[in-house]
This record gives sequence, structure tokens and C-alpha cells, in this order.
Amino acid sequence: MRSKLLVYKGKDANLNHIKNKTIAILGYGSQGRAQALNLRDSGLKVIIGLPKKSKKRKIVKNDGFEVFSTEDATKKADILSFLAPDHLHQQIFETQIKKNLKKGQAIIFAHAFSVHFKLVQPPEYVDVILVAPHGPGELLRKNFLQGSGLTSFFAIFQDYSKNAKKIGLAYAKGAGLIKPGMIKTTFEDEAIGDIFGEQAVLCGGLSELIKNGFETLVEDRISPENAYLECVYQLDLIVNLIKSYGISGMYKRVSKLAEYGSYLSGKRVINKDQMRKILKEIKAGKFTQRFLKEFQTGAKNYKNKKRSYQKHLLERTGERMRRRVG
Ligand SMILES: NC(=O)c1ccc[n+]([C@@H]2O[C@H](COP(=O)([O-])OP(=O)(O)OC[C@H]3O[C@@H](n4cnc5c(N)ncnc54)[C@H](OP(=O)(O)O)[C@@H]3O)[C@@H](O)[C@H]2O)c1
Repeated sequence: MRSKLLVYKGKDANLNHIKNKTIAILGYGSQGRAQALNLRDSGLKVIIGLPKKSKKRKIVKNDGFEVFSTEDATKKADILSFLAPDHLHQQIFETQIKKNLKKGQAIIFAHAFSVHFKLVQPPEYVDVILVAPHGPGELLRKNFLQGSGLTSFFAIFQDYSKNAKKIGLAYAKGAGLIKPGMIKTTFEDEAIGDIFGEQAVLCGGLSELIKNGFETLVEDRISPENAYLECVYQLDLIVNLIKSYGISGMYKRVSKLAEYGSYLSGKRVINKDQMRKILKEIKAGKFTQRFLKEFQTGAKNYKNKKRSYQKHLLERTGERMRRRVG
């Protein structure tokens, strides 16, 4: 049976639960910087943990935070927010965090990946909480400054202090991750759902859909500019219609020609068997093994794939078109 959707709002959280605590933000990238700035603006005490050689240390100092090594930040904090890259979590946790943990600390993750797949196995004497933002840090900060924030997922993996919920909700409030609505989930569902969604639909599926549509038109001698306008330019309009009115609401607002043709052809370009296979591989941990191996062995395939997208005609056309038509 499906459980009822539980949505937390700002009124469910109280900053007083963490007002006198020190929060160490480990990592100062997309999420780290945004969450650190938001938490400080919410009146909370924030320090930053980064490797000694990190180029981000200069930005941290310009932003007015104290910065420590990851080991020292771990020792000084009551709450750790682990915002380093996922593929490094295991190594960072084992070598820099684990031996410096104290009884009763809370560790907050922004993605359940490393805990669910047991790359990080925290000791039983800490709280383990998930506050997973639905969007990049830049957007989180921008929305926070405008008085809102981003939606997020919330879950508790381990509640040693018996206060994990209060601590996690207060952290989310301070970071700007509860106001529009925070959805309760589990570490397992967030890890699997997020990885599948980004690979099969949001990032991987969508990029390949766009690229292949563009290539098909260009190979048939339609100009790259036209192909860009047909396959990319109106994407945000369609997505916004779907988000505002649903798929059927979107179809009500496009032409009958577009609607009827879409019913015929949409299904032909999607392979649901492959989607099921991808989900199975993710659940079985096969993707995780592959991901870690790739980055432990120089990330050659990853870099090649990245380069092939960067060099694609679609990207050069996009750059030109953004200058001309926005
Ligand atoms: N970006 C998003 O849109 C998004 C959305 C939801 C959830 N998340 C989750 O948020 C977490 C952080 O992702 P991100 O995108 O913010 O990462 P990111 O932009 O790649 O930044 C990672 C930061 O971690 C630092 N770092 C590297 N090694 C470290 C260490 N040993 N100790 C402390 N910091 C270290 C990096 O320093 P250097 O700059 O010196 O390398 C960098 O500042 C991940 O779990 C991710 O899944 C991200």
C-alpha cells in the first residue's frame, strides 16, 4: 500500500534546535556555498571544511567564513553537512571524517547515494539525516534571497540523539530547503529514484532525445539553426506547460497537428524495456560499481563522453543562437 505523502513546511521547523550548534559545511561547490550563505543569513553558526589545497578556500575567505581542514572542521562541529562530490565520499569519510567523529553529532547528506550503497557507513553513535535539494545551489541561493527557497527530500537513516528530526528540519529551514515544501522519503527511495530520474529522464534521456532529434534533421539537410529552434528553443515552454497543467493540459495548448503527431510518434522513440533494465542495474548496485571504477581509474570514458558533447555541432549552434534569439 502506498503511504500518504508527507510534506513539511517552515512552521514544522524551529531554528532554536540548532541555534547554539556549530555547523560544518564540508565542501564549497554548488550546494556548499549556497547552503553555507543561507544558514549564516538565518543566524546560524557556520564553518567550512575543505582540503588545504582547495582553490575554493579563497572564495570562502572572501565570503567571510572561517575555513578548516575537513578533519578539523569535523572535530569542531555539532552538525556536519557532507557536500563533497559523491564519487569521493567513501575515501573522504574513511580518511578524514570517521576517526574525528564524536558521539551525538549529526551528519547531513544532500544525496542518499553513498549511504544507501554503503560507501559511507557511519558509526551508530551519530544521527544520519537526508536533506536533498531539488535543484542546484545557485538557484537555491537566488530563491532564498527572494524569500523562498527550494523543495527538497527529507529522511532519517539513524536517530541516535532522538532529535534527528528536529535537527534536520531546523537545518533545512536555515538552508532554505523547507519553505516551498519538503517531502518525506527514505534513503533508499531517494538514492534509487534520483539516480534513475537524472539518467533516464531529466539529464541523460533528455540530452540524447534533443541531440538525436537535432542530428536527424541536420542529416536530412535542415540547417543547424532551424534544427536548434525546432528541437531545443521551445523546450522550457513545453516543460512549463507540463509543470503547470500536466501533459494533457500541455496538449490542450498546442496545435491539433502537434498533439495528434505526438500521440503517434512519441512512443516510437522511447524504449521502456531499456528503462526497466537501467533501473534494475541501479538497484543492484551495478551502476555504482561502474561509476566508482571509472573515477578510480582516471575517468577516461567520462572525459571522452564529456568532450564529445562539448564539441558537438548542437553546442556551437546553441551558443550562436543564444546570442541571436536568446
Ligand atoms: N549540484 C546540485 O545540483 C545538487 C543537487 C542536489 C544534491 N546535490 C548533492 O550535493 C552534494 C555536493 O554536490 P555539489 O554539486 O555541490 O558538488 P561540487 O559542486 O562538485 O562541490 C564539491 C565541493 O567539495 C569539495 N571537496 C573535495 N574534496 C573535499 C574534502 N576532502 N573535504 C571537503 N570538501 C571537499 C570541492 O572542493 P574543490 O573545489 O577544491 O574540488 C568542492 O568545493 C552531492 O552529494 C550531490 O549529490 C547536488
